[in-house]
Amino acid sequence: MGSIVTQEMKGNELIQAQTHIWKYAFSYVSPMSLKCVIELGIPDIIHNHGKPITLCHLADALSIPPTKRDSLNRLMRFMIHSGFFSTKRHDENQEEEGYVLTPPSRLLLKDNANTSSSIVLAMVDPFFVTPFHFLTDWFQGSGNTPCEAAHGRSVWDVLEQNHEFGKTFNDAMANDSHLLMNVIVNEGEGVFKNLNSLVDVGGGTGATTQAIVEVYPHLKCMVLELPRVVSSLSGTNNIDFISGDMFKSIPHADAVLMKFILHDWSDGDCVKILKRCKEAIPSREEGGKVIIIDAVIGEDDTKQEHDSITETQLLLDMMMMALVGGKERSEKEWEKLFLEAGFCDYKITPVSGFRSLIEVYP
Ligand SMILES: C[S@@+](CC[C@H](N)C(=O)[O-])C[C@H]1O[C@@H](n2cnc3c(N)ncnc32)[C@H](O)[C@@H]1O
Repeated sequence: MGSIVTQEMKGNELIQAQTHIWKYAFSYVSPMSLKCVIELGIPDIIHNHGKPITLCHLADALSIPPTKRDSLNRLMRFMIHSGFFSTKRHDENQEEEGYVLTPPSRLLLKDNANTSSSIVLAMVDPFFVTPFHFLTDWFQGSGNTPCEAAHGRSVWDVLEQNHEFGKTFNDAMANDSHLLMNVIVNEGEGVFKNLNSLVDVGGGTGATTQAIVEVYPHLKCMVLELPRVVSSLSGTNNIDFISGDMFKSIPHADAVLMKFILHDWSDGDCVKILKRCKEAIPSREEGGKVIIIDAVIGEDDTKQEHDSITETQLLLDMMMMALVGGKERSEKEWEKLFLEAGFCDYKITPVSGFRSLIEVYP
């Protein structure tokens, strides 16, 4: 039966279909190779070299023995193909081309508040990868989420009980906040301008509020977080850390900010959180609003010809399904949540990249 179906495909079509599947089956090699590049510290070595670095010099800097130099060459060839490095000559006198950084690998440099190294290391960690081996079991009935089917506990418990992994995750979130918030605060058309107080719900270690108060130093900010994240943190002049649970209560402020929070939760949980937000803010006339930073998936974007932004959103949506039972939402899905939680209006401003800024009014 199966062979009759495949016999209907012509030679080229058959080969193209097979190539598509093989490319897909191998695609986990990409993040695993990127992990190796980060762990070896290759971006920093290239950066510190100050000019294009030849394979030989790179191998020496990494103390890689001659027997493995060809493998290093192949790793670099793959990463060049993936856009992480390129090659060029320093000047006409340099005989051999050397490796140089590209914008994505500049974002992998260590000791850099904008680094994306920690998100790569967190995402390829077995804690986050194993739940995908349980996706089928979960569809067929086991566990609240694939993460629970795999680890017998929620992501939040995994993060609480594994301090090293919890730190990698918190660092990843803080680096993302540093990078994204600097763009939003400087280009976000005054979204924080008329506020006197703000509570960042699930605000991690405070990187988001830190970026905001650098531009709006008059703003009094609170970060509401789980005890595991903030119990050891002390506040600053205008940032207070508050241990608590957003499902129970949210401190009063002119605005509630939630960056990368609601996509972690089911529709029912989001409505509960949004209701707590509404209780925490004044009326729209008095300046009350909820500011959400999350993805908004376009209605047509599930088609195959999607660009890299949509692909990132759809991958993230699968991550949310496997790890936390949350989801990425379309505008219609967001609107439904806002109305159900008792809000009257909202405004979406796309931010460059895969996320948007959503202002929701009571
Ligand atoms: C995906 S992270 C986002 C962190 C931060 N907003 C950012 O974008 O960098 C989700 C955060 O929600 C926090 N969180 C989870 N459940 C919570 C709860 N019930 N109350 C408050 N925060 C919670 C987690 O500790 C975690 O730091």
